[in-house]
Formats: sequence, structure tokens, C-alpha cells
Amino acid sequence: MSNVAPSSPEKLAAGNWKMNGTSADLSILETIIRDLAPEAGAGALICPPATLLSAAAHLSKATPLRIGAQNCHEAATGAHTGDISAEMLRDAGATHVIVGHSERRADHRETDDAVRAKAEAAQRAGLTAIVCVGETEDEREAGRQIEVVTSQLAGSLPDGATADRTIIAYEPVWAIGTGKAATPADIAEIHGAIRSALSTRFGAQGSAMSLLYGGSVKPANAAEIFAVENVDGALIGGASLKAEDFLAIHSALAAA
Ligand code: 13P
Repeated sequence: MSNVAPSSPEKLAAGNWKMNGTSADLSILETIIRDLAPEAGAGALICPPATLLSAAAHLSKATPLRIGAQNCHEAATGAHTGDISAEMLRDAGATHVIVGHSERRADHRETDDAVRAKAEAAQRAGLTAIVCVGETEDEREAGRQIEVVTSQLAGSLPDGATADRTIIAYEPVWAIGTGKAATPADIAEIHGAIRSALSTRFGAQGSAMSLLYGGSVKPANAAEIFAVENVDGALIGGASLKAEDFLAIHSALAAA
């Protein structure tokens, strides 16, 4: 971990495959690796299911593509049947881990405290945590989106979080998998509030953390989303399962 904050946030196109992909789908990674522009000025990350981590890390070794996981347990080892620690993910070749995705907050009742413990575990293991926040449709309709997101952010980030080990993903729940992305104005409002909360709490480190938008990002809307202030990249679900779509979004980010 570095105590010197980078001068600006890293641009990153990150794909979250969720519970999709078997070994046959490693061909998607092969295409991404083959066609990823090396000089692009934007990083690229794919988070496949845990079963494919080792093979994916092997394929991407010595290439610009990095590999991440979708969840971790907070402990390093122990009697936790079925769980995987951040140290194990790192050993399998991951450099990043998504924590607190809304699907895990909903399906596994993960609280902000649990997410913060996972983010701490990621830091302990030398992984970069991609910490997800986002309001539901009901919360937005009640006008509570800023309050909900900033409260999740405050509770889910450990003290001492640094820009090289922490990425924030704003993913409004109502935009995930619906084809209905948030508007640039919606994104600008929330990303501005997130940036300001991060800078207040973490100083220069908070100003240099990458802020990703997630929720129905596709080649057709990527450029307008990446033009929004305080958007440093995307967390991409469905479109990251198609090599050409992921690559097109990555190119749009590099050009932004
Ligand atoms: P979609 O891009 O499929 O809407 O998913 C977004 C997401 O949840 C990424 O983590």
C-alpha cells in the first residue's frame, strides 16, 4: 500500500460475469486478450466465477488484462465451509475483488459491516477491493438516493482505505440487468456526492479513488456515461460476456 495518492484516478473497465461461465467461455477471455489495445490508457479487468479464476489468471499472465473475484470471506483461513478467503483469491491469481454487490447484499443479507470486513480482508491480502453501493428503485422514488449511497459508503469502507487498493462502484439496483441505465444527470449527482464524501474522509487518497458506474452499460451508452464528471470507468455485467462489447466499452473509456 502506498501512502502517496496517485495524481488522478485510474480509468478502469471492469467486467463482472456473475454466476455465468464455464471453461468453454475462456475463449471470451482469449479474444479480449488478443484484441485489447495495449496503449489504451484505460485498465481492463474481468471478474469470472471463482471456478475459472486460476485458468483466467493463467491465460492473462503477462498481458494487460487483470483478473478479479466477485466476493471473499473476511477471515484468512478457518472453518467456513464453502467460503474463499482473499488470500486464496490472490493465490489463484486475482488482483481485485468485488465486495458488497447489491446481489450479495440482497441474496446473502450482507450488511455494511460485513462488506467493510471483506474490504479489510482484501487489503490485508494485497487485493484491490471494488466496493459497491447503490439505491433501490423505492429509495430513489422517495428521493433518498444520496442519503442511502453515502450511508452505505461510510459503513462499507474501512478507515485507512487508499486509492491504490480501493475502487468504488455506484450501481443503482434498478439499473442492473434492466437495460435502463441511469441518466448522465443521475450519475453526475451521485458520483459528485461520492467524490465529495471520499475527499472529506480520506483527503488526497479519496480524491484519487476510481469511481465506476454500473448498471446496463453497453457500447451504445458508454461514451455518454464516460463523459460525466467523476466517472472513471464502469462495472459491466451482461455486456462483459461478449468480447466485442467489452472491448468497445473499454475503447470508449480510453477515448474519454
Ligand atoms: P449489467 O451491466 O448486466 O446491468 O450488470 C451490472 C452489474 O451488476 C455489474 O456488477
